[in-house]
Amino acid sequence: MDNKYYVTTPIYYTNANIHVGHAYTTVIADAIARYQRMLGKDVCFLTGTDEHGQKVERKAKAAGKDPQAFCDEIVADIKQVWATLDISYDIFIRTTHREHTEQVQRIFTKLYEQGDIYKHEYQGPYCVDCESFWTERQLQNANCPDCGRPVQWVTEESYFFRLSKYQDRLLKHLTDNPDFLQPTSRRNEMINNFLLPGLSDLCVTRTAHQWGIPVPFDEQHRIYVWIDALSNYITALGYGDESAQFTKFWPADLHLMGKEIVRFHAIIWPALLMALDLPLPKQVYGHGWLLFGNDKMSKSKGNVISSVELAAKYSSDAVRYYLLKEISFGSDGNFTEELLVHRLNSDLANDLGNLLSRAVAMMEKFSHSKTPANILADEPDAALIAQARALPEAVRTHMESLQFGGALAEILELAKRGNKYIDETAPWQLAREKRFDRLSTVLYNIAESLRVISILLLPFMPRTPQRIWEQLGLDAHAHGDILTLASASTFGLLPVGLNVKKGEPLFPRVEWEPRAEPETTTTDTLTPPLLPAVDITDFAKLDLRVVEVVAAEKVPKADKLLKLTVLLGPTTRTIVAGIATHYSPDELIGKRLVIVANLKPAKIRGIESQGMVLAASDEYNLAVLSPARDGLCSGAKVT
Ligand code: ME8
Repeated sequence: MDNKYYVTTPIYYTNANIHVGHAYTTVIADAIARYQRMLGKDVCFLTGTDEHGQKVERKAKAAGKDPQAFCDEIVADIKQVWATLDISYDIFIRTTHREHTEQVQRIFTKLYEQGDIYKHEYQGPYCVDCESFWTERQLQNANCPDCGRPVQWVTEESYFFRLSKYQDRLLKHLTDNPDFLQPTSRRNEMINNFLLPGLSDLCVTRTAHQWGIPVPFDEQHRIYVWIDALSNYITALGYGDESAQFTKFWPADLHLMGKEIVRFHAIIWPALLMALDLPLPKQVYGHGWLLFGNDKMSKSKGNVISSVELAAKYSSDAVRYYLLKEISFGSDGNFTEELLVHRLNSDLANDLGNLLSRAVAMMEKFSHSKTPANILADEPDAALIAQARALPEAVRTHMESLQFGGALAEILELAKRGNKYIDETAPWQLAREKRFDRLSTVLYNIAESLRVISILLLPFMPRTPQRIWEQLGLDAHAHGDILTLASASTFGLLPVGLNVKKGEPLFPRVEWEPRAEPETTTTDTLTPPLLPAVDITDFAKLDLRVVEVVAAEKVPKADKLLKLTVLLGPTTRTIVAGIATHYSPDELIGKRLVIVANLKPAKIRGIESQGMVLAASDEYNLAVLSPARDGLCSGAKVT
C-alpha cells in the first residue's frame, strides 16, 4: 500500500475574501486528509493563495493599497477562516513567496530553453490610454470597453506554451486512464470539447500588468497566472531543490477543484508536467458548484455567505456536516441556510445528540454514572452490533469513491439504529423489572455504539467526537488505542467503570429564522462598468439575427481569427470573428449564432466581414450567443 497521500485544493485568489463556496472544497480536502491520516498514511494537505495578476492589482489599487500589503491582509483573513473551520492543512503556499517565484522563473526558463515556450507575435486591438489589449469581442462599438476611446490594431510579442504538441499524449492519457479525471461527465467534456477538436498554443505572458513574476530573461513580460498558479503544486513541495518532500509526495494523489477550472488542471497542468518530464497527478476531481438560489455563489455576484458567520451561528461542525452531507459530490447543489438548520435539527440534534443524552442520562440513573458491564447478549443486540461492526468498512467504501454524503449517512444510520434499539429494549422497563444484567448489557451496547460513531465522525466533524468522549468518560490520551480507526471495527472494547457525565447538548435545536434578503451589491471592480442608458430607438437601430454556420476555417497567420460562412435566410455571408482561441472550426459548424447583421462591412486581414458574431466574455472565458431553443429559422430577428 502506498503510504503517503498528497491532496490539494485550488489556491484561491486574493482579490476578495473567501466565502462558503471556497470552504466547500477546503472542508472536503480536510475530511479526506484527516481520514487518510487515520488510515496511518503520511499525508500532505496543501492549500494556499494565488496572488498575482491584474485582478488583484486592480483590487489593491481600488483599495488604495500596495498589492503585497493588500494580499497579506486577505491571507490573514483566509487563515482565520480555515482556523474557524478546523482546516488541518500541512502547507499553505502563497505565490508571492520567494521560493515559489524563483522556482516559477526556473520552470519558465527551462521550458523556454527546451523549446516548449516560444516568443511570438500577438495581434489585437489595443487601447493606448488604458494600456490594455482586448479581444475583438470585448470591444464595445469598436471602442475600448473600459474608457470608450477608439482602439488601435497593434502587434505585440508574447510568450506561448506549445500546448498543441502535447495534444496526442493528453488524449491518450485521458482515454487510457478513466480515473484520472472524474466525474466522468467532465472527462467526456474535456475529450470532446477540447482534445478532439485540437488544442492551440497558450499565451503565457502579459505586459499589461506589473503585479506578476517577471520573465527572467525579458523583464517587461510577466508570467501570466496559470503557469505561476499551477506550478504551486510542485513548488510547495520544494520541486527543483532536491527536496525529499517532493520525492516523497509527488505525484499528487488528488487535485480537488470546482468544475470551472477543470480545463486548467486536466489539460494545461498535465501538459506542463509532461514538458517538465514529471509524472502526472493520480486524480483530478472537478466538483460541482454551490448554488445560491440558482446562481453560482461568487464574489462578483455579491451573493456570498461567510462561513465564519455560519460557524458562529451553528458551530463549525454543523457547517462541515451540511457541506459534506447535503451536496452530492460532483453535482451542483443549492446552499440554503434553511436546509442547514433542518439537517442540524433532524440529524445532529435529534439522531446523534439525542442518542448521547439518552445514553448518558440512563447510565447516570441506572448504572451509578459508570459505563456498565457487557453481560447478557440478547436477540435485538445482534442487529445493532452487526451494523456497528460493518460501519468502518462501509465508510471506507464511500471514502474511496469520494462519496462523503454516503459515509455520513451510514454513520447517522447507526445513531438512528441506536435510538431505535433504546425504544425496543426499553431500559426503564428492565430497571422496573429488576433485570439488571440485561439492563447493563443494553446500556453497554448503546455506549459502545457511540464510541464507534465518534471515531468515524472524526474526519468530518473534528470537534464533536471529543465532546462525546467527555460525556462517556473517555480520555483521548489514556484511551487512545480504543479511539483509532482500526479499533472501530471491534465491538466490545469500551472499558467498564468509566465516569459518565452529562454535558451540554451536542447540538441544541435551532429555530429557523429567515435572514433579511441580502442586498445584491456588485462590488467586483472587474465587472466592466455599465454604459449610459440608451433609448429603445437606439437599440432598434441594430439588426440582430439568428444565423446558421455552414463553414468555418482558421484565418491563416492569425491565431485568434476564424472565417465563418453563415446562412441568413436564403443568403450566405462571410464573417470574421476573433474566437479561434476558444472555438475550433468544427465545433461551430451547424451551430446557430446571433449576429449584428447591419454593421457596416469591415476588412479584417484582407477578408470582408459582413457582420459581427455576438459573444460574451470575461477575463478567461468566451462563449458565443446561441438561441436557447432549437427550431428557429436562420434569419430570425432577435429583439
Ligand atoms: O480559480 N461552489 O481561484 P478562486 C463550489 N486562483 N466551489 C467554489 C465556489 C462555489 N460557489 N466558489 C469557489 C481560482 N469555489 C484560481 C485557482 S489553482 C492552481 C488556481 C471553489 O479564488 C472551487 O474550488 O476563483 C473553485 O474551483 C475555486 O474555489 C475557485 O477559487
